[in-house]
Amino acid sequence: MSSSSRVAVVTGSNKGIGLAVVRDLCKKFPGDVILTARNPTLGQEAVKKLKEEGLNPVFHQLDINDLQSIQTLREFLKERYGGLDVLVNNAGIAFKVADTTPFPIQAEVTLKTNFFGTRAVSAELLPLIKPQGRVVNVSSFVSVSSLKKCSPELQKKFRSDTITEEELVGLMNKFVEDTKKGVHEKEWPNTAYGVSKIGVTVLSRIHARQLNEQRKGDNILLNACCPGWPRVMSSCSRVAVVTGSNKGIVLCAICARNSPGT
Ligand SMILES: NC(=O)c1ccc[n+]([C@@H]2O[C@H](COP(=O)([O-])OP(=O)(O)OC[C@H]3O[C@@H](n4cnc5c(N)ncnc54)[C@H](OP(=O)(O)O)[C@@H]3O)[C@@H](O)[C@H]2O)c1
Repeated sequence: MSSSSRVAVVTGSNKGIGLAVVRDLCKKFPGDVILTARNPTLGQEAVKKLKEEGLNPVFHQLDINDLQSIQTLREFLKERYGGLDVLVNNAGIAFKVADTTPFPIQAEVTLKTNFFGTRAVSAELLPLIKPQGRVVNVSSFVSVSSLKKCSPELQKKFRSDTITEEELVGLMNKFVEDTKKGVHEKEWPNTAYGVSKIGVTVLSRIHARQLNEQRKGDNILLNACCPGWPRVMSSCSRVAVVTGSNKGIVLCAICARNSPGT
């Protein structure tokens, strides 16, 4: 095991908000901070950049769409640290506004990463979270505006306190199927990104509920948060402005042990 027994993992952290979160955690989190990237070259370059700033993140490859990759990270965490203290599910994609890829493909690809990839990471890594651990799922305020554009029946399902993970998965799959049939606008908003982030927010509520039920005494906090709109995702077409969007995420990742749970 590492001399530093505490460990934080940030998904999709070779650039953007994830990189900023790693930089901040390196300064504030008392333990090792794992910078992950699907592309090892990009990940190592990001680590090098932070080392030049005097920080000391550890690199590990992670593609959230690749179960083998997630499981390799899980085994590394188990072996080296005996678990995980902080998980920031940050990795995500968004098609450019002007992208001409057919909408059903955009829907499938966006949900594959933002919802199903985040879910796969959670399935493998949440069981590793140690008592007092913190989990932050990076969603978006777009999930709120998108939810309001869903049919009343769908809104009721998403807002339900008893919705199960299986039901949520069924709804996310139904969105993709409806886009393929060309009928999604009867019930859904016309935004694959927005629907994927509804999925992330509702999944977070389900996982927080499960942690409260199954690991009540462990004081684990799981939050979904929006980093704000301070800069546009590099996969979007508009101009990036400033960083700083990492503040709320870092706050959720290291907030006091006696803070109320979600
Ligand atoms: N920017 C905003 O204003 C804003 C607002 C609300 C919410 N968000 C959310 O904040 C998060 C970060 O956004 P950002 O602006 O920093 O985006 P970004 O600059 O595009 O960075 C996204 C990161 O996710 C990684 N990624 C994508 N697919 C992945 C996969 N399959 N496995 C592992 N990593 C993967 C990317 O890796 P590559 O470099 O290899 O592509 C990159 O490191 C996202 O979840 C986004 O939805 C952003």
